[in-house]
Amino acid sequence: MLKISTLLCDHHKNFIGLDTLRPSFSWVIISDGTGITQKSYELQISTDQSFGTLFWTSGAVESSQSQNVEYSGPDFSPVTRYWCRVRIVNNRNEQTPWSESVYFETSLLKEESWDAPFISSAADTKPEDSKGWLFHKELQLTSPLKSARLYATSLGVYEVLINGRRIGEQQMTPGWTNYKSRLLYQSYDISGELESGKNTVLAHVGPGWYKGDLAGWVGKRCYYGSRNGISLKILLCFEDGSEQWVESDESWTSCPSPVLYSEIYHGETFDARQESLEHPSSLKVWEPVECLSVSDKMQIRAQDGPLVLPREVLKVKEIIKDSQGRTILDFGQNMTGWVRFSVTGKSGDRVKLKHAEILHPENEFYTDNLRSARQEILYILKGEGTESYQPRFTFQGFRYVLVEEYPGDIRPEAFEAVVLHSRMEPVGTFSCSHPLLNQLHHNILWGMKGNFLDIPTDCPQRDERLGWTGDAQVFISTAASLMDTYGFFSKWLRDMRSEQLPDGGIPHVIPDVLDDAADGDDILGGNHSATGWADAMVICPWETYRKSGDLNILKENYEAMKNWVGYMRHQARDEVIWDSGFHFGDWVALDAKEGSYFGATPNDFTATVFYANSVDLMCRTSWVLGNTKDCEDFSDLYKRIVDAFQKEFFTPSGRLAVNTQTAHILALHFNLTPADYVDRTVNGLVSLLEGEKDHLTSGFLGTPYLCSALSRYGRLDKAYTLLLQEDYPSWLYQVKQGATTIWEHWDGLKPDGSLWSPDMNSFNHYA
Ligand code: BGC
Repeated sequence: MLKISTLLCDHHKNFIGLDTLRPSFSWVIISDGTGITQKSYELQISTDQSFGTLFWTSGAVESSQSQNVEYSGPDFSPVTRYWCRVRIVNNRNEQTPWSESVYFETSLLKEESWDAPFISSAADTKPEDSKGWLFHKELQLTSPLKSARLYATSLGVYEVLINGRRIGEQQMTPGWTNYKSRLLYQSYDISGELESGKNTVLAHVGPGWYKGDLAGWVGKRCYYGSRNGISLKILLCFEDGSEQWVESDESWTSCPSPVLYSEIYHGETFDARQESLEHPSSLKVWEPVECLSVSDKMQIRAQDGPLVLPREVLKVKEIIKDSQGRTILDFGQNMTGWVRFSVTGKSGDRVKLKHAEILHPENEFYTDNLRSARQEILYILKGEGTESYQPRFTFQGFRYVLVEEYPGDIRPEAFEAVVLHSRMEPVGTFSCSHPLLNQLHHNILWGMKGNFLDIPTDCPQRDERLGWTGDAQVFISTAASLMDTYGFFSKWLRDMRSEQLPDGGIPHVIPDVLDDAADGDDILGGNHSATGWADAMVICPWETYRKSGDLNILKENYEAMKNWVGYMRHQARDEVIWDSGFHFGDWVALDAKEGSYFGATPNDFTATVFYANSVDLMCRTSWVLGNTKDCEDFSDLYKRIVDAFQKEFFTPSGRLAVNTQTAHILALHFNLTPADYVDRTVNGLVSLLEGEKDHLTSGFLGTPYLCSALSRYGRLDKAYTLLLQEDYPSWLYQVKQGATTIWEHWDGLKPDGSLWSPDMNSFNHYA
């Protein structure tokens, strides 16, 4: 047996919105033989599914390459569907049949700039308002339609309904990018949604990341703008071959929506007594719209990463009563998304839900660690039959739901929790004979599901949910072993590049909303470029390449990677020891001073290690890209840094001068230990561990490499001892405490039953 499975175009199968003229193709060869390799391939592209006429063929190409084969044919036309298929000949001269044909449809493509205006309600004048707005247009179709497309984006978060039906499954569109310069539009096939005669198009927009509250502790609001808006284009293709574009403009009308309030952190209020979205004839849309001017720096491009989708549905596992007799639903899993429910009652009756990660003390609903995030859903009933509801422009991080108000009996079947995250295909699984390790793996996977909602967030529940660079670089290698993260990270890296400072510096969070947050803050001592955080600019492209083999991620990011390394080079003493600036360092390590988040390993040590690592990755990157001159320069710089590091941090007799677990782990893992001193350094690490009765004290920067550093240097025994430790502090301690995701602190819930301070105590923190 010899066949092709899974032909992908630019890491996708069957999709609308390809935004490049040079996509790449990858396929998987399935065979029951051994030693089978590809000798040649043939790729075909056609505009019809039967391949009656070919748009392009590669012909038989002698090559073993089956991943990321770059397209080299003529330019594609915009908004056109293409089909592709591939077959190969193997090293025994056997040919596969053609693969299943898959399609991609081009976007408006680069040349065609987004020309539809953004419209906003003339009544949307209050920055403090968090309500939803509806935008309305009637479409009259007089001749038979062949196909139709919708392209839409918004200032805020949007959904589109046609004739009362919501278009597409995607949520939280257009996602979160650096709206100062990058906004994405989504493409939809709406051919089946339009009828001859009258059609009602309704766009619904809420505050989202654009206008709503962000970074609660800093109090950002209207960070990108104070008015929500929608911009859309509809392409109607008629049977007679004619085409018509319909766009958002001043002919649309607007009115406030039944969403009285919606905020990412705080939840949503929906008054079902108002206009019905599903029955648009009930709408009293009367307000004029205004065209908004948007910065000409803002580029509007096709969706360039995976969409956020409902991925799983969880049932109520248990109903719990708190000490006041209130009902708490336990979904059995800490997760991110929202609750969908059904309810019957009188007009004006209410359903009020609150969301929390843990119960503490036993069976008490605990929300202090959410800080200012309210995570509340309020639904006001219309009072007609069974009503059902799911939020639109918000998401919650939770396992437990307090049903504060609900008319009638609370039946578990009336509630389900919908898990939202970016669409990524699973690529790795793990299971073993040790149930606690299996649960640990489960918790890691759910940490990923909970925090890969369009951007990699630190946590999904408190008033933060930001794209912290350090967290992402710590986790990326694990993430990419669990799911295909190519598209997810290439999108986020585009934003990172767009936020890079002129001197090469990288903000702490991407998209950056903390640009002035350090002013007056007692933890943040700088707004950008912290070691181990900003290095995401080099580590994330490199890890994405390592897991995918796709050089494009390195090519796209190369200049930005170099610029980040250039920044460090400029900061470092004599270009080699980086001993200045603000750093989070070995964040939340257990060797921190009482009450502090900053671990004991000094900043000049961690900063020089991560600087050396990024330069090392630049050597490799420039080498694989064939940039020989850069490769020589980086190699030379790397040698100088390593030399200086060894002089600075090792005594002449080979003792590592920084006596922390993390310092030993980093010096070993990143190959910074002189060969003669490796044994002594390994022994030093082991004795530090033994000093803690074989427990770790490391934080963000040391922990990721602890077990692998031990196993690599002959102490697999110690790696297992640590991994299998069940008491505090250890990975399995939290598992034994009932964790279903990874905690921010080793001691989020302490052995004496008390909690770490609510200031910063997330129970869903993959880093
Ligand atoms: C986040 C972290 C992040 C850190 C920076 C926290 O508030 O939750 O995970 O990396 O700040 O120190």
